[in-house]
Amino acid sequence: MTKVVRIHEPGGVDRLMLEQIEVPPPGPGEARVAHRAIGVNYIDIYHRTGLYKLPALPAVIGVEGAGIVTAVGPDVDEVKVGDRVAYICYPAGAYAEERNLAADRLVPIPDGISFERAAAGINRGITAQYLLNRTIAVEPGDPILVHAAAGGVGLMLCQWAHHIGAVVIGTVGSEAKADLARLNGCQYPIVRTKTDFVKEVRQITGGEGVRVVYDSIGKDTYAGSIDCLRPLGMMVNYGNASGLVEFVNARELTLKGSLFFTHPSLFVYMRKRSDLLASARHFFGLVDAGILKIHVNQTYGLAEAAKAHLDLEGRNTTGSSILVP
Ligand SMILES: NC(=O)c1ccc[n+]([C@@H]2O[C@H](COP(=O)([O-])OP(=O)(O)OC[C@H]3O[C@@H](n4cnc5c(N)ncnc54)[C@H](OP(=O)(O)O)[C@@H]3O)[C@@H](O)[C@H]2O)c1
Repeated sequence: MTKVVRIHEPGGVDRLMLEQIEVPPPGPGEARVAHRAIGVNYIDIYHRTGLYKLPALPAVIGVEGAGIVTAVGPDVDEVKVGDRVAYICYPAGAYAEERNLAADRLVPIPDGISFERAAAGINRGITAQYLLNRTIAVEPGDPILVHAAAGGVGLMLCQWAHHIGAVVIGTVGSEAKADLARLNGCQYPIVRTKTDFVKEVRQITGGEGVRVVYDSIGKDTYAGSIDCLRPLGMMVNYGNASGLVEFVNARELTLKGSLFFTHPSLFVYMRKRSDLLASARHFFGLVDAGILKIHVNQTYGLAEAAKAHLDLEGRNTTGSSILVP
């Protein structure tokens, strides 16, 4: 039997049940992974609360993990028993000691990177990779705005954009988070709760505005984010920590400078294995070179999943959180 964290219905953290289930042998195209570390992500909260629907309940939540391949089913040539692997993928099922999943979603972990850092980094790393390189190709000198700049994805975006040579402006919820963002390449951290970030961004950019806004907060920041953009700027609303942006006014986008709006998903950008592997190689290569740091700032046991969710929702975390089974 395998220990897992499941939900039987959506709701608060009291719905997270520590249970035992039988994991069957891996089916065709599948591998079994014994987790050494599991990533805790905002999407796990969307699944728990029902903001994003899971296909069936009860369900083990979690979409990110790292561990060792302990068995493979028929027709698997991507991995073999004993491989060190990491993943970020659907279906959910990562809050578990072990699980089966499609072998073509597994990426190799380079030797110098621990399971903990791989589980904390693979989602945030390849998210930053596609957001900065594919959603829009950020160039040296581009002014950009990153909300929740001290968060998991936020710290990764700041470091990577700084490495590209962009001028990184960030918003954060506290002075301590501003210090952390600054240490990670954010030249201009703004404490959003104290200062009007739109005014600040305009001032920092000499009135011009930024080329792109990376907005993971959604509902609460959408209007301000749009007002920070320069003509032809791109609003990348890639998360919903404060709730979904339910309505985008096409005419407003025109009037505010023929702006672009996108609500991108990693699962679409990584649907081809070649893209997933290229993205992971790019990310792990920069980690290996010491250019990107994976911040594993909160570690919990599997039985502490509720605390991990409360801390993330309560804005009490920085960098990444993991569960160690
Ligand atoms: N689209 C994609 O492909 C993709 C992939 C990965 C992650 N994501 C998204 O990326 C975002 C960041 O994920 P993460 O796991 O790294 O989380 P995180 O950024 O570490 O944590 C969320 C942060 O959002 C800020 N926040 C502002 N208003 C909030 C509110 N009302 N409630 C809660 N938090 C609020 C807080 O930072 P401050 O205190 O600094 O405001 C909080 O620490 C999430 O929205 C997630 O859905 C999207």
